Amino acid sequence: MTTMTVIGCGYLGAVHAACMAQLGHDVVGVDVDAAKIALLNKGQTPFYEPGFEAVLAEALESGRLSFSTDMSAASGRSVHFVCVGTPQKRNEYAADMAYVDAAVHALLPHLSPGDLVVGKSTVPVGTAARLAELVARTQPEAALAWNPEFLREGFAVEDTLHPDRLVYGIPSGASGEWAQARLDEVYATPLQAGTPQVVTDYATAELVKAAANSFLATKISFINAMAEVCEASGADVTQLADAIGYDARIGRRFLNAGLGFGGGCLPKDIRAFMARAGELGADQALAFLREIDSINMRRRVRMVDLAREVCGGSIVGRRVAVLGLAFKPNSDDIRDSPSLNVAAQMRLQGASVVCTDPQAVENAQRAWPDLTYASTAEEAAAGADLVLVLTEWDQYRNLDPEVFGAVVGRRRILDGRNALDPVAWRAAGWTYRALGRP
Ligand code: UDX
Repeated sequence: MTTMTVIGCGYLGAVHAACMAQLGHDVVGVDVDAAKIALLNKGQTPFYEPGFEAVLAEALESGRLSFSTDMSAASGRSVHFVCVGTPQKRNEYAADMAYVDAAVHALLPHLSPGDLVVGKSTVPVGTAARLAELVARTQPEAALAWNPEFLREGFAVEDTLHPDRLVYGIPSGASGEWAQARLDEVYATPLQAGTPQVVTDYATAELVKAAANSFLATKISFINAMAEVCEASGADVTQLADAIGYDARIGRRFLNAGLGFGGGCLPKDIRAFMARAGELGADQALAFLREIDSINMRRRVRMVDLAREVCGGSIVGRRVAVLGLAFKPNSDDIRDSPSLNVAAQMRLQGASVVCTDPQAVENAQRAWPDLTYASTAEEAAAGADLVLVLTEWDQYRNLDPEVFGAVVGRRRILDGRNALDPVAWRAAGWTYRALGRP
């Protein structure tokens, strides 16, 4: 059992804290947001994440987990995870390091000899070395490790308890050895289950995360570029993805063409990576990521163009139903959500848009109070001239084209995620169009 602090209780930190307690450790989660801490201490989750509420309740019940706004809760604990956000800076590609820097500075006075600070946030390469110096200046007998996190929203609990791999960036020499030993204690359960482990230097550990997210973004934009060619030539990108995906070297996962990637990670991480490479004089190496980003953003514009086409050349005054606002299903996260972006564009261009989502309406309402919201797909689509499926929630995949057809004004549907069966929808008299499909 390790006593630990988890600093930052967002999507990453809150789940990490609860899962660490689940693994038997004694954990205090620290965050500056008093409202969030109050909720978590009551066992209420500040965001929607499948399975999280149950793990949180169990961990609180066990007495091994609590939350605080007071950093002095870190005193006397031996491992301190830094899980705060690194959002994109306003009007810049670079990551905003203010939260990471503030968290580490607040932690410094509470460090004791033998403590280990563990960075989990996604940061520009070079950050760990800089923070390690800071730690060494304050508490020479403490050390720092970099342990990037790869969890996906919607699967955060599963990914934290059963990670694909564990990556440790550690310093050389004796402090690196005990840092590794300490992390091995923290992750004893996944290690015993055979989780692969890569032990490396700080820079490599930081780059693993940037490289993994860049690769995933590239895969999505690659298939979306193929979707553009399919649209131009009358081919079907979903069949194309199936066919190339059978090649084990390529693989079918992350080849779902559609509205492209959003969320709090992929978009800002590839931009921060480009910015950092520029500072290092390696910008040419990542020039392709600019194209990955452009392909991704073009999908949103294409969706609005398609809507205009289907509506006979203009969306002005058209009643449009938007199904799905979260950046992906099983999440209430609307950060850089492609669907919300499309909804907002359509509204700005004069359409009368009614949006819905099984979990994200509240967050969307806060960010876009000018849009109109409904609580169900049927309500959003009542009398609609056009329906857009923009986040592939199961609820929308399973809509019955016949029953749903009774509520709309016109049977016209655009499938932004290639989530529906065109044959079934067309058979029920719908005009069905999708990105990258004839
Ligand atoms: C991602 C990484 O997967 C994760 O490892 C990292 O730790 C954080 O960033 P996440 O942002 O939760 O996780 O979502 P992910 O499942 O990767 O999806 C990202 C976006 O890509 C979503 O908007 C999703 O709709 C889109 N996507 C994904 C596609 O458009 N097509 C696909 O085939 C897969």
